[in-house]
Amino acid sequence: MEKYVLPHSSLEISRLIFGCWAVVGGFNWGPQDKRDSLAALKKAYDQGITTFDTAEAYGAGASENLLAEALGAERKQIEIASKVGPGDFLPQDLIRACERGLKNLQTDYIDLYQLHWPNPEVPLEDTLGALQQLREQGKIRAYGVSNFGVKSLETCKQSKYRISSNQMAYNLLFRAIEYSILPKCIEDEVPVLCYSPIMQGLLTGKFSAENDVPDDRARTRHFTKERSQSRHQDKGCEALTFEVIGQIKAFADELNIPMGNLSLAWLLEQQGVAATIVGGRNAEQVKKNMGALEVKLTPDMVSRLNKITDPLKKELGANADLWQTESRVL
Ligand SMILES: NC(=O)c1ccc[n+]([C@@H]2O[C@H](COP(=O)([O-])OP(=O)(O)OC[C@H]3O[C@@H](n4cnc5c(N)ncnc54)[C@H](OP(=O)(O)O)[C@@H]3O)[C@@H](O)[C@H]2O)c1
Repeated sequence: MEKYVLPHSSLEISRLIFGCWAVVGGFNWGPQDKRDSLAALKKAYDQGITTFDTAEAYGAGASENLLAEALGAERKQIEIASKVGPGDFLPQDLIRACERGLKNLQTDYIDLYQLHWPNPEVPLEDTLGALQQLREQGKIRAYGVSNFGVKSLETCKQSKYRISSNQMAYNLLFRAIEYSILPKCIEDEVPVLCYSPIMQGLLTGKFSAENDVPDDRARTRHFTKERSQSRHQDKGCEALTFEVIGQIKAFADELNIPMGNLSLAWLLEQQGVAATIVGGRNAEQVKKNMGALEVKLTPDMVSRLNKITDPLKKELGANADLWQTESRVL
């Protein structure tokens, strides 16, 4: 497994990270069998993934608990990336949230602690100061951010604190960060960890048309605001999304590479990207996704994928919030 050393830390992460959101089921995902979840986590570790991304918000601590249950015995061999929600950004709240995380994870340190979404109500410098304090106490090894746009990244840069990563939604069907956030991350040397890298399953080809996508999965701005779980005001671009998926699939077939693997490999080729965080609900999906590491893309293949997905990039624009018109990515 290829590794990546995050800046301002000694933390080495695996370039394929296992995302521990869907394994708790519920919101966005529906029913989930715990035996499948434990098997998925163990398979990820057995296949060479050492970094696991979770958050207190995933099932109110359930995801952190599950990770401890599945891989507690391997604690020293893995890196845990967890997140604190924006409601806990006041220093005393953040420190309490971290203590809860440590308890849920049954550990005495978190490798990478990330600010889940920006909170403009709390001075960022104060929040970063609390993270630095946790680091000096050995409770976290490094800290990063998530869903941070250019303005918040600039505030980080101007502060006396140094963040190690920015976790952002990025995939072939959602390239919004390429407009200004990714260039800013490259300039500031803040590596990107990509979430929803296979667009919550859409890039595996499991849905052949927009109507196959269940409403709880069709919350993103690709789908019309008329979807029952939608929180945005956009008209959506369902037909274009599925036309683009069809073209990616045809190209993947031509190369004889599963579309999901091709999509992950495309991300790993992007400048500024440290790793992709991919979810999986059972061991079989995890095993399939590992195939991405075998794929070697030429510059021509990358350009072809860019060209196929350019119209969707243009249609969805620079708003890097997957779910809301009024962007929370600040
Ligand atoms: N920072 C943030 O705000 C934020 C937001 C979202 C996610 N994340 C992180 O990023 C991680 C990954 O993102 P994500 O879970 O949203 O999306 P994703 O990784 O793009 O999609 C994962 C889902 O796709 C399906 N899938 C996976 N492998 C498959 C395969 N080989 N064949 C067919 N279907 C497959 C599974 O769901 P089904 O089987 O149900 O289709 C799986 O749960 C999360 O777990 C979380 O750690 C962070």
